[in-house]
Amino acid sequence: MLTPVIPRVGELMRRRADCLSLAQGMVSWGPPEGVHEAAKAALNTESTMASLDRYGPMEGDPELLDAVRQELAGRQHLDLDGTALLVTAGSNMAFHAIAQVILDPGDEVILPLPWYFNHVMAIQLAAGVPVGVPAGLVPDPERLAAAITPRTRAIVTVSPANPSGVVIPGAVLAAINRLCAERGLFHISDEAYAAFVHGSVPHHPPGRTRGSGSHTITLHSLSKAYGMAGWRLGYGAVPSQLLAGLAQVQDTVMICPPRITQRAALAALGAGAAWIAPRMASLKERRSLVLDTLAGAQAQGLPITIPVVPDGAFYVLVGCATPLAGEALVERLVLEHGVAALPGEAFGLGDGEGAAQLRLSYGMLDTPLLKAALERLLVGLRELLV
Ligand SMILES: Cc1ncc(COP(=O)(O)O)c(C=O)c1O
Repeated sequence: MLTPVIPRVGELMRRRADCLSLAQGMVSWGPPEGVHEAAKAALNTESTMASLDRYGPMEGDPELLDAVRQELAGRQHLDLDGTALLVTAGSNMAFHAIAQVILDPGDEVILPLPWYFNHVMAIQLAAGVPVGVPAGLVPDPERLAAAITPRTRAIVTVSPANPSGVVIPGAVLAAINRLCAERGLFHISDEAYAAFVHGSVPHHPPGRTRGSGSHTITLHSLSKAYGMAGWRLGYGAVPSQLLAGLAQVQDTVMICPPRITQRAALAALGAGAAWIAPRMASLKERRSLVLDTLAGAQAQGLPITIPVVPDGAFYVLVGCATPLAGEALVERLVLEHGVAALPGEAFGLGDGEGAAQLRLSYGMLDTPLLKAALERLLVGLRELLV
C-alpha cells in the first residue's frame, strides 16, 4: 500500500522552519473576490441560512449542477448524453468513489507512468490493483492496450499531467477513449489542470467524442485554477449507470457536498475563464523562469535532465545524477538547504541506476520566492549530485 508523500514531506518541512516549498501542488492565488462575497452573503441571509444548515441533494445543489453543466457542455464541449453530474468534496473524492463503485477485489486499473499517487491509493483502498504502465510521457495507446487483462476495468489519463506537465494531444486521448470503448473499459480522465495550458497543444477532453458518455468519467477540480484547494470542491460527469453506486458512496461518506462551499463554487465558476487568464499568464512567466534557470545550471555542468518540456499544469520533472534515492535527496534538500520538492518514487518513477527524479511545483511561490527557492535548489544539487 502506497503511503501519502505530502504529509511525509510536510513533516520534514516542519523540522526546517524557513523551508521554501516546490513540493505541494497548489497555486499562489486565492479565489475570485466573488467567492468570499458569496460565502458572506449566504451567511447573512436568513432564508439562505435555513438551507445551508440542512442536508442537501446527494449529487449537489441544482444551481451548482446547472453551472457545472454549462461549464462541461458549453465551455468544454463534452457530449453529456448518457452521463450524470456529481459534485464532490474535491476531485480526489470523486476518484475514490468511482474506484469503490467500479472495482471488485483484484480488479485492475491501468495508470500510465508516472502516475498520480492519490489514484493509486484510491484503487488500493477499493482492494483493486493499480497497474503502472511505462507507456511514455505521452502515453502510447498500443502499449496501454498490451497491458489490458481480463481483470482490467479502467484506464486513467491525467492531462495536463501531474507530475510531468505534459498536455496529451486530443488525438491520443481520443485513441485511448476508443480503446476503452472497444474493450468495455471506463476511461477516467482527470482534468484538474484543464485551465493550465502554456504551449501550443490545447486541452482536448476525451469526453468530447460523440457517444463517449457511457464509458467516460471526466473529473474537474476547483482547487487549482480558482485557488480553492482548502474549500474542497470538485465535480465530474459520470456514466449514468454508475450513479446508483456513487450515490451509495456519497450518501455514506458525505451525505451531500458542503452547501456553503457549493455557494462559493457557483461564484467561482461565474468568474470563469476571464478571471483565470491573467493568472495563467503570470504562471507562464514563472514556468520560463524555472526552465531557464534549470537550463542555465545544466549548461554549467550540473548533472540534471529535463525529460520533457512541460507545457501544462505547474510541474517540472527533473532527473538528477546521484546515488541517492529521490526520497533521500528530498530529505537532504529540505533539512540542509531549506527547499522542498517531491521524490519521483511517489509517482511510480523508480530510482534507476544512479539517477533520481524530482517533481518541482512552481505554482505556489510568487516570483521573488521562486527565485530564492531555485537558488537554494541549485546550491543543494551542486553539493549532492555527482
Ligand atoms: C491530477 C490531480 N487530480 C486531483 C487532484 C486533487 O484535486 P482536489 O483538490 O479537487 O481533490 C490533484 C492535486 O494535486 C491532482 O494533481
